[in-house]
Amino acid sequence: MDSPQAAPPGPPDAHPDAPGTPDDRRPAVPQPRVDDEPYLRVDDLRVRFDTADGVVRAVDGVSFTVRRGRTLGIVGESGSGKSVTSLAVLGLHDPRRSTVTGRITVGGRQLVGLPEDRIRRLRGRDVAMIFQDPLSALHPYYTVGRQIAEAYRVHHPRAGRRAARTRAVDMLDRVGIPQPARRYDQYPHEFSGGMRQRAMIAMALVNDPALIIADEPTTALDVTVQAQILDLLADLQAEFHTAIVLITHDLGVVAQVTDDVLVMYAGRVVEQGSATQVLRRAQHPYTWGLLSSVPSLHGDPDADLVPIPGNPPSLIHLPPGCAFHPRCRYAGDRSRAEVPRLVPTGADGHLVACHLPPDERTRLAAGALSERRLP
Ligand SMILES: Nc1ncnc2c1ncn2[C@@H]1O[C@H](COP(=O)(O)OP(=O)(O)OP(=O)(O)O)[C@@H](O)[C@H]1O
Ligand code: SF4
Ligand SMILES: [Mg+2]
Repeated sequence: MDSPQAAPPGPPDAHPDAPGTPDDRRPAVPQPRVDDEPYLRVDDLRVRFDTADGVVRAVDGVSFTVRRGRTLGIVGESGSGKSVTSLAVLGLHDPRRSTVTGRITVGGRQLVGLPEDRIRRLRGRDVAMIFQDPLSALHPYYTVGRQIAEAYRVHHPRAGRRAARTRAVDMLDRVGIPQPARRYDQYPHEFSGGMRQRAMIAMALVNDPALIIADEPTTALDVTVQAQILDLLADLQAEFHTAIVLITHDLGVVAQVTDDVLVMYAGRVVEQGSATQVLRRAQHPYTWGLLSSVPSLHGDPDADLVPIPGNPPSLIHLPPGCAFHPRCRYAGDRSRAEVPRLVPTGADGHLVACHLPPDERTRLAAGALSERRLP
């Protein structure tokens, strides 16, 4: 692991012109209705994998909630446990190779420990997933329309072929695919990357799920298509009143479409709050590092990017105390000995797991202008 002193991430300032926060959402996007109660509730989720090298603690005590009409962004470097968290919500971990504990409640139903056939009934109908790579979800041998129609019939067994086709054409139309009736009979390879992503969104929405989990849904797309897909998701959220969990590396995407943000490091949540709190008033040194390592959306395009030094730790041999301490310029003795708990910062709903005293954290977060490296 690199020396913690090498090019450390500095704290960003809380400049009022910090770009890309939810206040900057395009006004054209209709505002969704938001429920009072969470639809998805995850409490103390832990996922471990037994491997030949040892036990991988991929997710270690993660808790969050999402209401219908809201979008939660989950961010963190590669290997921080974002996908493992979302796969647990879908009940997709193989019980022979993994141990999942905690509580996952979807629409009031507790999922952890349910038999596979009951989880399968929820999947696709109440909870749907959009993956980064549509080709992994779309079978190359079947037409796009047929696959969407079949996804509909799995949860509507009484629907006839004609009704399923009508529904699939309607969904293709709603996700903005031109000439949907003709496109219905085409194969995935006849679609462009952006259209395939739209088709996968159509498939995810065909059963009108209450919750969508989108794992890096736009990472493979160019910037223009990415913006279109994000707009589409926002429109569909307003129309279908969906709760969305959006997993992404891209803080620009987080700024554009999420309401709340969860920052994960080495399988744990290190900071959590509204998008405005996390992007404008970040309190955790790791979040400062993430913010400093991405290009500005609106600011100085020539500003230096500052990568976080070192690498994420092995999840088999986590560093003691705060798992971020080998990379953190502010680490003290307590950081090396004691795992920091996620505690309120004082701002409503804003939580942080760091031993720095609150006033010092706030002072550092406000940051010297000379260290300003916001996205
Ligand atoms: N089936 C498995 N067996 C063993 N280890 C696993 C398994 N699935 C995931 N892991 C490990 O769990 C950790 C978290 O993986 P995860 O896929 O959630 O990362 P991620 O945050 O989604 O990263 P990325 O941004 O690269 O997609 C990684 O170290 C990964 O190697
Ligand atoms: S607990 Fe210590 S090592 Fe961890 S982020 Fe805070 S200051 Fe850095
Ligand atoms: Mg992932």
